[in-house]
Amino acid sequence: MSITVHRLQRVPSTQDAARRLVDSGEAAVGDVVVADEQTEGRGRFGRSWLSPAGGLYATFVLETGPLLSPLAGLGVVRALTRYGVEAELKWPNDVLIDGAKIAGILIETVRDLALVGIGLNVEEAPHPAATCLRSVGCGARRGELIVAIGEELAFLESEGAILDAYKAQLGTLGRTVRMSMEDGSAIEGLAVDVDRAGRLLVETSRGVHPIASGTCRHLRPAGDSPDPTRSGYAVDDDRKGEIVGLIDEAIALEERAETNYRSAAEMTSDPSAAKILGMLADEEARHADALRTMNAGSVQAEVSLIDAARDWVGGSIEGGVGAISSDAGLLDVLRRATDIERTTETFYREQGAASDDAQIRALFERLASIEKGHFQFVSSLVEYYERPEEWVESAEFGLRADY
Ligand code: BTN
Repeated sequence: MSITVHRLQRVPSTQDAARRLVDSGEAAVGDVVVADEQTEGRGRFGRSWLSPAGGLYATFVLETGPLLSPLAGLGVVRALTRYGVEAELKWPNDVLIDGAKIAGILIETVRDLALVGIGLNVEEAPHPAATCLRSVGCGARRGELIVAIGEELAFLESEGAILDAYKAQLGTLGRTVRMSMEDGSAIEGLAVDVDRAGRLLVETSRGVHPIASGTCRHLRPAGDSPDPTRSGYAVDDDRKGEIVGLIDEAIALEERAETNYRSAAEMTSDPSAAKILGMLADEEARHADALRTMNAGSVQAEVSLIDAARDWVGGSIEGGVGAISSDAGLLDVLRRATDIERTTETFYREQGAASDDAQIRALFERLASIEKGHFQFVSSLVEYYERPEEWVESAEFGLRADY
């Protein structure tokens, strides 16, 4: 079988380019569409994939199959091994080096074929939480990597015994994970296995849950303190401990807020309330993530926080706050949320003001005002439960102005 590499320079997305080529009969199974740069690269769940020149952006046209997602992840890991790079997988197929993402995979279909889109950071990591081949000392060129990935994918397809090999590379197994689903729900538990359909089996106190789709976060194992300096937060050695401690404390507050919102979301029987509370929980999770990946000299952490706040406000308005019904128990969780938000805001204000690090000051001020917005929003929910008639106006007008 002859394989064609369709080499393009600058395209919106290699996924769309491949789709067109398959539709027009110019590309077939085994072919790969490669671009130097993408202007609208996309990731899973509609996220965008930053695709500057210097990265590897490729879409392989393959037969569909039940374990294609693990197979694709494994193919990338094995190709990297050829160049001395030891990577692991995060379910379902994010490729990580020392916990930082180096490659992501998006699978779409066209007709009865699969478009396996692979984005691999080569020259630079477009996000402070990510890594790239050059920063781990690998000099492999994009062309040879594409060939290596293609060969590994073809070999794995013919080999068959994918599941065991996949599980051996899956760093997720044995870890505590938080799985966020597209409907806004989430579960936290121990990742114990992957079944024959590629679903992650997560054990909680309520049993073992097979997860077919969702965003997986590896949570810190107990006793393993996060170290933002690892991802490049460059400060003087004598101040490192102080800043690490501060960020650690902030992460703990964010995690507490997130857990509280998740339990409120589970408790309510109202889908609008669950959606809003899920969004609040997601936003607190993003704060914690941004804090974990702080990188001196980069404003990206702050930018992502501003985006997160904007998304959240849009979502809360769209969710229709007026539709929330009262649920027994939810009021208590919301009252607790106001306390947590107040504590968190005060923490950011006080510590930000006391810090002589300009980046910490700016970030903490921004976080404080976001937490203040949460506090006002949640307080207005509490008010609604207590005095439903008066609440609607303050929720509809007060908050939008505040943001
Ligand atoms: C993810 O981790 O969310 C998946 C990212 C997939 C990015 C690749 S780059 C090549 C192909 N073209 C796209 O627009 N996306 C995929």
